[in-house]
Amino acid sequence: MTNKKIPDIVVTSALPYANGPIHIGHLVEYIQTDVYVRFLKLLGKNAVYCCAGDTHGTAIEINAKKEGVTPEALVEKFLQAHQDDFAAYNIEFDSYYTTNSDENKALSESIFAKLKEADHIYEKEIEQLYSEKDKRFLPDRYVKGECPKCGAEDQYGDNCEKCGAIYKPTDLINPKSAISGDTPILKKSTHLFFKLSSFSDWLKEWLTKNERLQPEVRNQMLGWIEKGLEDWCISRDGPYFGFKIPDTDKYFYVWLDAPIGYISSLSNLVGGIEKAETIWNEAEVQHFIGKDITYFHLLFWPATLHAAGWKVPDNVVVHGFLTVDGEKMSKSRGTFLTASEFAEKVPDTEFLRFYYAANLGHAMTDVDLNLADFSERVNKELVGNVANFVYRTLSFAHKNYDGKLEKKADDEAAKELEQKITEKEKIILNYFETYEFRKAVQEILHVADLGNAYFQAAEPWKNKETSQPVLTTCVNLVKDLSLLLAPILPEFSRKVQEQLNLKDLTFTDFGFSLENHTINKPEIIWRPIEELVFDKPKEAERDITPASLKLITAEITKVERHPKADKLYIEHLDDGSGKERVIVSGLVPYYAEAELVGKRIVLVDNLKPAKLRGVESKGMLLAADDGKGALEVLESDAKPGTPVLIESFEQREEEITIDEFFSIKIEVSENKVLCAGKALSADSKPLTTKKVVNGTVA
Ligand code: MSP
Ligand code: ZN
Repeated sequence: MTNKKIPDIVVTSALPYANGPIHIGHLVEYIQTDVYVRFLKLLGKNAVYCCAGDTHGTAIEINAKKEGVTPEALVEKFLQAHQDDFAAYNIEFDSYYTTNSDENKALSESIFAKLKEADHIYEKEIEQLYSEKDKRFLPDRYVKGECPKCGAEDQYGDNCEKCGAIYKPTDLINPKSAISGDTPILKKSTHLFFKLSSFSDWLKEWLTKNERLQPEVRNQMLGWIEKGLEDWCISRDGPYFGFKIPDTDKYFYVWLDAPIGYISSLSNLVGGIEKAETIWNEAEVQHFIGKDITYFHLLFWPATLHAAGWKVPDNVVVHGFLTVDGEKMSKSRGTFLTASEFAEKVPDTEFLRFYYAANLGHAMTDVDLNLADFSERVNKELVGNVANFVYRTLSFAHKNYDGKLEKKADDEAAKELEQKITEKEKIILNYFETYEFRKAVQEILHVADLGNAYFQAAEPWKNKETSQPVLTTCVNLVKDLSLLLAPILPEFSRKVQEQLNLKDLTFTDFGFSLENHTINKPEIIWRPIEELVFDKPKEAERDITPASLKLITAEITKVERHPKADKLYIEHLDDGSGKERVIVSGLVPYYAEAELVGKRIVLVDNLKPAKLRGVESKGMLLAADDGKGALEVLESDAKPGTPVLIESFEQREEEITIDEFFSIKIEVSENKVLCAGKALSADSKPLTTKKVVNGTVA
């Protein structure tokens, strides 16, 4: 839908990272925002819904490298997938753009220039963890170590999952790169800081005066300001996927240009950044976000806008997180569901819109998707109550009066009904306006109840000849119900209006004024949900990539012939663990026993143990084969137990099967050992072969 008029309300949802799929947690927010915008449009407001993919940052850069594609290509894939998912849930944007756009670059540079001009930016040298192996500074989420407070192992660089402590990556004990396991060093770099602290008073006033903010949100922000705001580092060192900061070798931190993406998405809609700036400053701007990103939207973002001379948002609506059956979404419980996985199970995607709306208030509390309750409410309230009233009314009218409706009923019962419904409509619109969708849904269901009760009490089936007015009254109620539900269930509402032989109604069409009208042939729109089962993921469906491979070096300490197989040796290894390890391999035709003893080989450490002719092999050594009869065991000087890395990427620990192992191709090219085109190395020294120049490795 394009708006010709100048928008007077700009509504946004947080820009999802174009780095992974949309899941049912995200949908809470996009459904909430979509319901609100549809409500505004039906009210006759010229509201626009702007969003975009958030494309920048370290994670996207690293993931792209892992997949062997450019960040642009990775982002492109997700931008498209996200829009398909949103469309499947009838989430309709007026503009869905990308933060990696010319407009966003120009706006980021211009806002930054204003901050600089006004002296809100300064340089400071800071020390951060740097991995020489990875050749990059390591952001919080890319360092793991022991918690400085409780000593828990394997904690990220920003907070401890065990004791909840918050700290800096440099506070971690025994820090390691989560990319390569490398021990980082401290390295200095000069960064740009925004003087957030000097906006404390201004922020306090803005937060206090803005009556539309949720009290719990306001209090949380005021609490943080009370504790003292630190200035905000807005630059990042490369490698990074983002915009270069003019005249420096740094990049803008993703959280600087991401919210500016709201404005560039608007500019994409209205035709240019000048127009967008005018509208931004004149229209009402409302952001919808989740509770995890309040700091960015209620402190950094308004301060940045204000400091750069822009208008600040008029409202920020904060929702809680999704839980499934009372717990955080979890892959192992089978409750981490992507939008498309959920749609496969529940193809009537508006059922989820209904359920979320029925559970959303104007609050930061979490929203629970209880799967049993979901089916029950959908079946009872939507299918059994609402849709049933619609079908019952329309099919009765169609069957008995050929769909012709002349005059509505004017007895006491009908008048009372009309009056009650009119009152409820006002209340319901007010609930939508104040983001109290749960209450709106309760009242709408009550409207349908009233309709069903009226129909039931009037007993039109007993005197069909004289009951045409009763049905006209009911048809009017169906029309109003379709309107009340339109923000939440746009597709259902459109279908009902089609059956009513009406279309594109807005809230000005409320009221029992539909007379002398012929409706179309009705059809059943929904069927109840059958039993919903979400399976736990199967082992076989794992995504096997070169990162699934855990390779280490080991030394052969002893070799024996296999008693039951001519071609097999049994090798005893020192794999650095201190315990002896035994593997079996078919090297008899290629190597004498004495040649193997003392060799340092490359071992697949996480291979599922297998019995070879009665002897258990715990792993497998790698050898290169030139396809012409030569075979060479891969060797490395590194001491036993050293990780053999594929271009320094983190190795997974989980066991893999032999078939999974064979699905990963390792090859020798010009004496270099490569996996997915990337060099294998131990202790930063690339593996090479002597005999086999080109070949395959297994
Ligand atoms: N890219 C940032 C936002 C930048 S806005 C200028 C980001 N992206 S996100 O993909 O992680 O999240 C997008 C929105 O979805 C956020 O508002 C976030 O709170 C919300 N949700 C993500 N997971 C969620 C749940 N499990 N439950 C409810 N909302 C959740 O943050
Ligand atoms: Zn801890």
